[in-house]
Amino acid sequence: MTTALSTRFTDRFQLSTPVALAPMALASGGALASATARAGALGLVGGGYGDLAWTQREYTLALSAMGTGRIGCGFITWKLDEDASALDWVLHLPPEDRPRALMLSFGDPRPYAARIAKAGCTLICQIQRLEQAPLALEAGADIIVAQGVEAGGHGMNALNGRATLTFVPELADWLSAHSPDTLLLAAGGIADGRTLAAALVLGADGALVGSRLWATTESLAPEGAKTQAVHTDGDGTARSAVFDILRRKNWPAPYDFRAIRNELHRTWEERIDALRAAPEAARAAYDAGVAAGDYRFAHATVGEAVGLVHDVPDAATVLQQMHTEAQQRLGER
Ligand SMILES: Cc1cc2nc3c(=O)[nH]c(=O)nc-3n(C[C@H](O)[C@H](O)[C@H](O)COP(=O)(O)O)c2cc1C
Repeated sequence: MTTALSTRFTDRFQLSTPVALAPMALASGGALASATARAGALGLVGGGYGDLAWTQREYTLALSAMGTGRIGCGFITWKLDEDASALDWVLHLPPEDRPRALMLSFGDPRPYAARIAKAGCTLICQIQRLEQAPLALEAGADIIVAQGVEAGGHGMNALNGRATLTFVPELADWLSAHSPDTLLLAAGGIADGRTLAAALVLGADGALVGSRLWATTESLAPEGAKTQAVHTDGDGTARSAVFDILRRKNWPAPYDFRAIRNELHRTWEERIDALRAAPEAARAAYDAGVAAGDYRFAHATVGEAVGLVHDVPDAATVLQQMHTEAQQRLGER
């Protein structure tokens, strides 16, 4: 049945709601991906940094709970340059178990495109600037995700980042001129029916949702982090390199990281070079915070959409509410 929420994206994956779960490292495990898929959206397992054992466990869990219908997987591209064993593992599963979609973000997707195509997976590339679109098309992206700086987790730093509200329609126009068969998803700040409807109005075929689905019962995010998120409004996050330095993550420029701007972040956010030069004491405070579940020091990864997150329901409830509200908003147009 065609509804206000039927798009090329829902047609392609037989979805009832034009939403994909963001492949959030360490949060989008098998339980969340399968719950999302059962609720009628696309469930992308967060292969993240490409940990083979984690990917094997969580992807297998997603399949056992759902079957392959609407299950995919995502990886951080620059990390695959060091170790692509988890990518190769999902691509060499029996054809019926392979991801329906494989998402790559943050780096050059071209070295991995041929093997993804050979495995029969739809390639999704997440980009942050218009100038990255030609490279994604050269890699054969079937779907491009336009990620705005509002997004939780990694994305472009303030000098280079784009806002979802302007980036999505500009990329929609560019794609309709240069590659009209390529689908477009919006990412960054989409967390309820209003923002989903807005993404569709801006010209996207759907939305990639991170922060809102991170704050669900099935998400693998720590409970203390979810609780902190519920009590944080949209003013309470910031982008910087602070948590990457504290976590010993060697992210290449120009990417940085949005999370809740907690006490430890505030201590270092104006002194990034000093933190980089001598991180030991701050790392000790961070590690102790993680061990104790103390989110004044440990990080909680969410974007500006955290201001729209007031509870921690199950994923099906989130998606049902988004669906109903988006439909009402679009019906009112
Ligand atoms: C906890 C968390 C972890 C994330 N990890 C990844 C990741 O491993 N790979 C990736 O491509 N994007 C990752 N992202 C970014 C998402 O793909 C997406 O762009 C973002 O969540 C969209 O914005 P939103 O958080 O406002 O929904 C992550 C986001 C969050 C919130």
